[in-house]
Amino acid sequence: MQTTPHLLTKQMLQTALPVRAVDAHKGTSGSVAIIGGDDGMLGAVLLAARAALLSGAGRIYAAMLCETAPAVDLLHPEIMMRRPDALATLAQLDAVAIGPGLGQSDAAITELTFWLTQACPLVLDADALNLIAQHHQLAELLKNRRGQTVLTPHAGEAARLMGVTAAAIQSQRVESAVRLAQSLHVICVLKGAGTIIAEQNGSYCINTTGNSALATGGTGDVLTGVIASLIAQGLAPIQAARLGVYVHGAAADALVARGIGPLGLTASELVTAIRDVLNQL
Ligand code: APR
Ligand code: MG
Repeated sequence: MQTTPHLLTKQMLQTALPVRAVDAHKGTSGSVAIIGGDDGMLGAVLLAARAALLSGAGRIYAAMLCETAPAVDLLHPEIMMRRPDALATLAQLDAVAIGPGLGQSDAAITELTFWLTQACPLVLDADALNLIAQHHQLAELLKNRRGQTVLTPHAGEAARLMGVTAAAIQSQRVESAVRLAQSLHVICVLKGAGTIIAEQNGSYCINTTGNSALATGGTGDVLTGVIASLIAQGLAPIQAARLGVYVHGAAADALVARGIGPLGLTASELVTAIRDVLNQL
């Protein structure tokens, strides 16, 4: 049987893996920030930040909009918790992810507006996408960015961005992903079984890893953190999107093979398994 040239395979990824030089230090391993976490949604930022950490970035900052956010992640005290406005003054961020648990408050719009006007690579997820779908001026800022952007919508978020139903997206997944990439000038990662990674030039690939164990809260936030971490480590955003999607699915496959899932696999378990997969590629 002939396989379609659009399938994302392990061979396509092996030329673009993050490498640690012998003389590496945390500065050369890349700095990443995750922004989101309004009231009641702090876990989304924690999952993304932990995923960024265990995927290998050297410095991880997490900023939550929630006024009463904890000052430290007790499971991973390596993560540096900051107020969102404190991130703007950091000397160097190699990648920024915004959206997990962001909410849709005025403060969320202010944060998103600021980061859309910065030149660093961005990963946009969840409520960042819902805000862009609702506010024309945010969509214009996105289209005119200087830096590269990776969007990670699920079908519902893609539907809001395109003004159609989720069913319409699901019936034309490839076309939808390519059209989003072209209309918003981004790399589009359209999530779901057979995640599609589409580029502005119309090229795309379809992921071959992952399973229904991933259909549980927080796994999308983990993917956002992994992609941002890989960009911070020096991968081109398209390579980071492909590798991130692949290892995220492969980690779920490995867990299910060990009897962890499909029922009850947690996003936290996925984070640890992604580290194993990345180190074994
Ligand atoms: N097969 C393969 N992969 C799957 C499957 C499946 N059947 N189901 C889910 N996945 C993968 C997706 O491809 C994606 O990588 O799991 C991840 C789910 O991501 P999200 O849909 O973003 O889910 P979640 O992390 O729970 O998001 C939580 O963020 O996007 C918002 O509206 C969403 O409020 C919700 C929150
Ligand atoms: Mg999500």
